Amino acid sequence: MELLLLIGLQGSGKSTFYRTRFASSHAYVSKDLLRNNRHPARRQLQQVEDALRQGQLVVVDNTNASRAERSELIELGKRLGARVIGYYFEVDLARCRARNAQREGLRRVPEVAIFATLKRLERPDYSEGFDELFFVRNNDQEGFDVSPWQSTLSGEG
Ligand SMILES: Nc1ncnc2c1ncn2[C@@H]1O[C@H](COP(=O)(O)OP(=O)(O)OP(=O)(O)O)[C@@H](O)[C@H]1O
Ligand SMILES: [Mg+2]
Repeated sequence: MELLLLIGLQGSGKSTFYRTRFASSHAYVSKDLLRNNRHPARRQLQQVEDALRQGQLVVVDNTNASRAERSELIELGKRLGARVIGYYFEVDLARCRARNAQREGLRRVPEVAIFATLKRLERPDYSEGFDELFFVRNNDQEGFDVSPWQSTLSGEG
């Protein structure tokens, strides 16, 4: 069993990453699909629990920006015996804004939302309970470069 958390700004490429790497193997959970739910966070936890109990591999595709947002998911995954893995997307504000600007209609988010996420964003850490962390660079050429985690990384921003 496996629970993957994607962590990154709007426009960083999380959903694209899911579609290209995990769509055929992992169940998809996202609060984006629960906009009309009265308790999206609770519902999302329930969906993750159901999928893991069925033995599915699961990806949670939200910004998952703060430790607080991640903690219940991590705790749930560990309680059910899943390996909890985080994919942290490089903070590249200019590219996130550019990709977002190219999106159509409702898929485009207000720019202030990106800045608000940046403000909340806390880089993940093994102390949160992750079994494994990866660093993801979106190369914009239909591809993603995934590298091993380094707790101190320079040149981001
Ligand atoms: N590697 C890539 N090559 C080309 N285009 C990309 C790549 N990654 C993302 N894009 C494009 O950039 C836009 C944003 O990507 P995506 O929707 O995956 O971001 P996201 O992190 O899921 O954002 P959100 O948090 O708002 O859901 C999309 O229009 C997508 O098609
Ligand atoms: Mg997305």
